[in-house]
Amino acid sequence: MISVVLIGTGNVAQNLFQAFSKVNDVEVKQVIGRTKSHLNFARATTTIETDFDKLLPADLYVLAISDDAIASVSMRIKETNGLIVHTSGGSSLEALSIHKRAGVFYPLQTFTKGKIISFENLPICIEANNTKDLEILRKLGETLSNRVVNISTEKRKILHLAAVFVNNFTNYMYSIGEDICAENEVDFNLLQPLIEETAHKLNVLSPKEAQTGPAKRGDQQTLQTHLEIIKKKHQRELYTLLSNAIKSNHGEEL
Ligand SMILES: NC(=O)c1ccc[n+]([C@@H]2O[C@H](COP(=O)([O-])OP(=O)(O)OC[C@H]3O[C@@H](n4cnc5c(N)ncnc54)[C@H](OP(=O)(O)O)[C@@H]3O)[C@@H](O)[C@H]2O)c1
Repeated sequence: MISVVLIGTGNVAQNLFQAFSKVNDVEVKQVIGRTKSHLNFARATTTIETDFDKLLPADLYVLAISDDAIASVSMRIKETNGLIVHTSGGSSLEALSIHKRAGVFYPLQTFTKGKIISFENLPICIEANNTKDLEILRKLGETLSNRVVNISTEKRKILHLAAVFVNNFTNYMYSIGEDICAENEVDFNLLQPLIEETAHKLNVLSPKEAQTGPAKRGDQQTLQTHLEIIKKKHQRELYTLLSNAIKSNHGEEL
């Protein structure tokens, strides 16, 4: 049995809490967060706390908090022999350097607190400053997922950068699409099968092979028509920037 104190109350903390709660070999002894009302998700089944000086003893402390707060909040974990990890893709192991036993437990997925998801097939990227702790993180990861991978800070930061492009930016594009539909009284839900197929076809094609659209084809009239329809300046700028990037990526085909 591995005892865990979960620090944080946001998207990742809530998903990890639910996932750990289903595992027999893991006990979440305490959830700690600075805002009392944000701890409601754990109130019924475990000890909750807002005072970081009242951390319970545990084998593992998981910091699922904003990247910028990792170093300062980790300093509040005192007098423990436990292993301290963060869940960030973009932060180094060094962020926890004041601790003798430090690691990273980065689940590579997009989490939102309103949507609890399964960890079963998602990669969990682990790192630790000694091999014994790496093994502990591997065992912990394997209680949740069948894809636990050792990744250095350097490589994890690259993965995280790529994740920002494939997920965060893509989602922002959905948001622009929704905005344009709303402005013109068109049903955004009609685009749902297209959104799903865009991701699914990457099972069989590379992103470059999968590219379609007016910029890839070099259809200048359609590109011009779109620019005339777009009302917002920043959306027009993005449209031009992305269309030019697609054209240059497929230059040989134009
Ligand atoms: N969301 C994802 O898809 C995802 C995926 C993989 C990894 N991660 C990583 O997981 C971590 C958490 O991300 P998230 O999306 O769960 O963030 P989030 O939903 O924004 O939650 C952030 C949490 O950090 C707490 N916090 C922020 N500053 C703090 C401080 N100075 N002292 C104490 N607590 C503080 C917040 O407390 P309050 O609620 O009181 O503000 C909240 O509980 C980040 O390192 C992120 O890079 C995120």
